[in-house]
Amino acid sequence: MEKTGVLYAGKAKTVHTTADRDLMVLEFRNDTSAFDGERIEQLANKGRVNNLFNAFVMQKLQGAGIETHFVKTLSDHESLVRNLKMLPVECVVRNRAAGSLVRRLGVEEGQELNPPIFEFFLKNDALHDPMVNDFHIETFGWASKDQIAQMKDLTFKVNEVLKSLFGQGDLILVDYKLEFGVFDGRVILGDEFSPDGCRLWDAKTMEKMDKDRFRQGLGNVVESYMEVGRRIGVEF
Ligand code: TMP
Ligand code: ASP
Repeated sequence: MEKTGVLYAGKAKTVHTTADRDLMVLEFRNDTSAFDGERIEQLANKGRVNNLFNAFVMQKLQGAGIETHFVKTLSDHESLVRNLKMLPVECVVRNRAAGSLVRRLGVEEGQELNPPIFEFFLKNDALHDPMVNDFHIETFGWASKDQIAQMKDLTFKVNEVLKSLFGQGDLILVDYKLEFGVFDGRVILGDEFSPDGCRLWDAKTMEKMDKDRFRQGLGNVVESYMEVGRRIGVEF
């Protein structure tokens, strides 16, 4: 599928149009961003690793009956996806306390969260992705009541599939972020799932294996992503 132009260049991925208006090419770059783009670095091989990681996870989710935009990989760092009309919110589920939840509420990092916590964030870098709730989303028209319900339902379904997938690799799925869009009136999983957008800890050592290694300067970022991938069956 030929790329015809750049629709949107994000911090880590570029979205290209194709001759088919229903299909787009998602390019995974080596750029790695933290703190809303305040720190951006190139990490060799990350685009390729995340492309292959994402393809594997999206296919697992599809196998479990969760519809996603993923069609197929096109190259080492590019995948073909369906063109969704994205809903401008991020859906986060937390199985353990970490990151902004710890900073916001002063709870202990690593604390198990039963039931898991769901949070919405508005996608807006200039405002640093503020947390919003169902009322903000409905009233400001970012998504309908029904779409809000579907995003929550799908995000929790993903939790069941991925907790088990990562669990088999001796990894704890601490939290993760998903983005959804609309295609033919249906709410479908878009964006990506990679260690850039979730937290994964080694179940035995509690070592961080995700983008917190970059945020916290722990080193071996892409090596850890690959280790996580290998443990769940991704072939790099
Ligand atoms: P947080 O603890 O910073 O709120 O993040 C929760 C999870 O969501 C974590 O796995 C990182 C992911 N996330 C992103 O990937 N991008 C974002 O813009 C935000 C706010 C969170
Ligand atoms: N992806 C966001 C950023 O660039 C947030 C983060 O992962 O820290 O800055």
